[in-house]
Amino acid sequence: MTKNDSLRVEPDKVPFKVLSSGAKMPALGLGTFGSDRFSHEQVAEAVEDAIRRGYRHIDCASVYMNEAHIGKALSKVLKEGAVEREALWITGKVWNDQHREVEKACRQTLKDLQLDYLDLYLMHWPFPNYHAPGCDGDARNPDSRPFSVEEFMDTWQQMEALVEAGLVKHLGTSNMTIAKFELVWPLMKIKPVANEMELHPSFQQPELFDYLVAKGIQPIGYSPIGSPNRPERDKTPEDVVDVEDPVVQRIASRLDVHPAVVCIKWAVQRGQVPIPFSVKREQYMGSLRALTEEPLTLQEMEDMKLADKNCRLIKGQVFLWEGAQGWEDLWDLDGKVTE
Ligand SMILES: NC(=O)c1ccc[n+]([C@@H]2O[C@H](COP(=O)([O-])OP(=O)(O)OC[C@H]3O[C@@H](n4cnc5c(N)ncnc54)[C@H](OP(=O)(O)O)[C@@H]3O)[C@@H](O)[C@H]2O)c1
Repeated sequence: MTKNDSLRVEPDKVPFKVLSSGAKMPALGLGTFGSDRFSHEQVAEAVEDAIRRGYRHIDCASVYMNEAHIGKALSKVLKEGAVEREALWITGKVWNDQHREVEKACRQTLKDLQLDYLDLYLMHWPFPNYHAPGCDGDARNPDSRPFSVEEFMDTWQQMEALVEAGLVKHLGTSNMTIAKFELVWPLMKIKPVANEMELHPSFQQPELFDYLVAKGIQPIGYSPIGSPNRPERDKTPEDVVDVEDPVVQRIASRLDVHPAVVCIKWAVQRGQVPIPFSVKREQYMGSLRALTEEPLTLQEMEDMKLADKNCRLIKGQVFLWEGAQGWEDLWDLDGKVTE
């Protein structure tokens, strides 16, 4: 067997989560946000190769600007019969500037991804505020405004229509807070099956995590390794580096794996679905293989609670409105939606 052959995982060895609908979501997905570090072609190449090697869950978004490239990769593996469409779990997201034209956004995503339907469609952020790609972290869009139940529900109802039209199998939210859920939950005809949120050892969000689980909403964890090499403009001096955490490092040495692999094992054992990003085969296959190899012990899972430093990395300050105090306003820290 060559080294490359060993970099494959049988898809039926990968655990899955059963959602409130009864559908099965593979317990790990491949992130596709290359930021400005990797080209769209590199990301698409990784998607194609990852599917050939056992990945079945891909996390896409129109704002990553690479869905047409990923679509070519998906079309290739599907046409060749390397995988059946039903065996894939493809997530898409409506971007903030398309909250008033959700069907158009979804149809464009389907066209770009060359698919007839999405398994999961997320509202990427719970408000229509957006920023120009690559803009400065302190930039404010004068059109930005605080969260509004009416605006959220208008977008959600357009998303519900997509399920009814057969374009989307499931709906989900992203970057939500408990306070916002409390306001919109009773109004949602089709409930979200998942919420995508920042989750890594130094940012475990236990209260929101437990809230979601109690409501039957599957947490999907983004930046599961703590996005160690994100652009400098997205870093602040207080940010913690997950792969340097002593508990993570101690477990990594016991298992003789990269600390990133510990972050992935911990995430899946805790019950969230991590979506690590990488275009490097050794890395993305290392993450998938992590699910089939030696787990963390119960004691190690307990010790990992100590790694939580409440360290939010994706603060979202570019979505703030005129008059907002700071990024904390986006996250309803006092339990009430900031107005
Ligand atoms: N819903 C949302 O608002 C939202 C927000 C952010 C992200 N996301 C999604 O979440 C995905 C992942 O988040 P992310 O890209 O911010 O961060 P991440 O997955 O925590 O970190 C990615 C980086 O970790 C390193 N890495 C990955 N696998 C590894 C392995 N097995 N061993 C060693 N190093 C490894 C790679 O660094 P190098 O490339 O330098 O080697 C990679 O670039 C995104 O791609 C996107 O799909 C969603």
